[in-house]
Amino acid sequence: MRLKNKIIEILEKNRDCSISGQELADKLSVSRTAVWKTIQSLEKDGYIIDASTNKGYKLNENSDIISYEGIKIFLSEKYKKFTVQIYKILDSTNTYAKKIIIDGAKHGTIIIANEQKAGRGRFGRTFFSPADTGIYLSIILKPQKKISDTSLITIAAAVAVCDTIKKTTCSEPKIKWVNDIFLNGKKICGILTEAVSDFESGIVESAVTGIGINIKTAEERFPEDLKRTASSLFPENISRNQIIAELINNFFELYENLSDKNLIERYKEYSLVLGKEITYFKDDKTQTGTAVDINENGNLIIKDKNKKTSVLESGEVTLNSKKD
Ligand code: BTN
Repeated sequence: MRLKNKIIEILEKNRDCSISGQELADKLSVSRTAVWKTIQSLEKDGYIIDASTNKGYKLNENSDIISYEGIKIFLSEKYKKFTVQIYKILDSTNTYAKKIIIDGAKHGTIIIANEQKAGRGRFGRTFFSPADTGIYLSIILKPQKKISDTSLITIAAAVAVCDTIKKTTCSEPKIKWVNDIFLNGKKICGILTEAVSDFESGIVESAVTGIGINIKTAEERFPEDLKRTASSLFPENISRNQIIAELINNFFELYENLSDKNLIERYKEYSLVLGKEITYFKDDKTQTGTAVDINENGNLIIKDKNKKTSVLESGEVTLNSKKD
């Protein structure tokens, strides 16, 4: 490990207390000058480091650079085996993940970008991904499952995002079927799962689950068309590194038990749409009805005003009540 990474690791582990230059030098068997130079170089990289003559160095609470050293601290032991690649900027972590699948990237490879130039959403939309204020990551999976079973991967990701938000910020996120996460009536996270399947067997060999969370993007920074509908999490005293690690832990716990019936029950508990009147598009027309249930495949069960039931496998719904 390079000296820089070793110092990042120590600073991230000791976010609550200062550590002197001498202590760092002794721990790492280098000179104080080498420590000082490395601290300067970290500041150039964007780390905000508080330095005091008496106490030493400490990461400022607003220092929020994504690093593997910072993520690893909170990662479950069993997931430390996964490869985590971190980039300053990518077009799209999903696009990049799909590229490296062709080169043989393994199950559990995680691609993270601090900024995306062309973040992608569902239905060919873009996902606004400015630098420093969000989490944009893609997880490469090798599900070896039928295409029809892969919708559960997105369901697991949505529950994992909600569990993570709840644990790290004590707020109450909701899932707008099928994979948008809302907080206080505004979207703060989107999920895009893309599958690479073998047409002959119908088996999904690889999948990429992309998750984008607005962490602290100020409302005025969103493009005009998103200003009314999008928001951010604004966590207090929690780094993006910690949120990423908790998300990876939560996601893989659920992914490894995809057939567990409890997953859908947990998804339903977070649902924003159940019991509400919605508008949806099916059979070439826009329809309205009440969302009454979510079945074991994650499909939405809707009852229209004539009590006729229909099943929505994919698509988008809107809530009819302005209050929601
Ligand atoms: C949506 O809201 O329709 C889904 C948005 C998914 C965004 C994430 S950000 C990380 C990953 N890379 C992408 O290009 N998209 C996903």
